[in-house]
Amino acid sequence: MGSIIPEITLNDGVKLPVVGLGTYTLRGSEGVQSIVHAIRSGYRLLDSAYNYENEGTVGEAVRRSTVPREELIIASKLPGRYHTYDKAVKAIQESLYRAQLDYYDLYLIHWPNPNQGHYVEAWQALIDAKKWGLIRSIGVSNFLPDHLDRLIEQTGVTPSVNQIELHPLFNQAEQRQYHEAHGIVTESWSPLAHGNEVLNHETIRQIAERHGKSISQTILRWHVQLGAVSIPKSASAARQVENLSIFDFTLDEEEMKQINGLSRPDGRIRNQDPAVYEEF
Ligand SMILES: NC(=O)c1ccc[n+]([C@@H]2O[C@H](COP(=O)([O-])OP(=O)(O)OC[C@H]3O[C@@H](n4cnc5c(N)ncnc54)[C@H](OP(=O)(O)O)[C@@H]3O)[C@@H](O)[C@H]2O)c1
Repeated sequence: MGSIIPEITLNDGVKLPVVGLGTYTLRGSEGVQSIVHAIRSGYRLLDSAYNYENEGTVGEAVRRSTVPREELIIASKLPGRYHTYDKAVKAIQESLYRAQLDYYDLYLIHWPNPNQGHYVEAWQALIDAKKWGLIRSIGVSNFLPDHLDRLIEQTGVTPSVNQIELHPLFNQAEQRQYHEAHGIVTESWSPLAHGNEVLNHETIRQIAERHGKSISQTILRWHVQLGAVSIPKSASAARQVENLSIFDFTLDEEEMKQINGLSRPDGRIRNQDPAVYEEF
């Protein structure tokens, strides 16, 4: 089956499907099977990370799928412990060896780790790795406007993507405005709030029922209409297909407003504020 997912063009011309597959916890042979199924169902963007320890699983699924490599968008992320320039370059190479790929389509700095303070060096390594042909598009994850300003000021290169926590309980309105003003695409992590109580939310249920859709589909449609790329993770073949079946209905302005109204300042699901939280 071909892909039916609309695409969004990044500031460097690379195109991303507006829905991709999150792969956190998809590992080993079961993970490979899940990812192969997802590709067969139409997923083209696969979101991985060095720290998920599943770049090998993703690479194996890519080789087992019948979709040509160049039609897939494979993403990974640089861990915090490798932010100094030389370590970052080696980690990017190691990421490629693990996946047995010649290049990543998208590579992100996973967290800014502002107290550690080496993220500009890490960014320079991504800029160079792109020049060397190891990465097609470079971006970041969990960067606040201050961190992005610093990258842009010190290197002149604006990230193509910022992957951030974004779901109905935490809709990141200000951060999205900043991205829009700087031509950065917003990518939503934990778009379904990690499958928490939001998947039983009464307000979203009523909207979903009106459209004959599930709560998950309604939330993923909301992400599309916000202009964000989302990467729901599902190990289940049926739920993977369900999560892609969101291009045959539209939420009206009032419905968008109702879902936006669920956002709360303390809505982060794991209390990971990038101003203080660091991950290595
Ligand atoms: N950059 C970062 O710092 C960062 C942080 C967190 C996550 N991420 C990325 O974002 C991806 C997605 O985030 P996430 O995995 O935390 O959470 P998520 O995608 O919001 O939710 C995944 C959970 O929802 C369930 N689910 C999926 N589709 C469903 C459906 N249609 N109906 C009911 N339940 C459904 C899944 O269970 P089943 O698998 O059983 O379907 C799983 O338990 C990750 O996999 C990772 O790639 C990035």
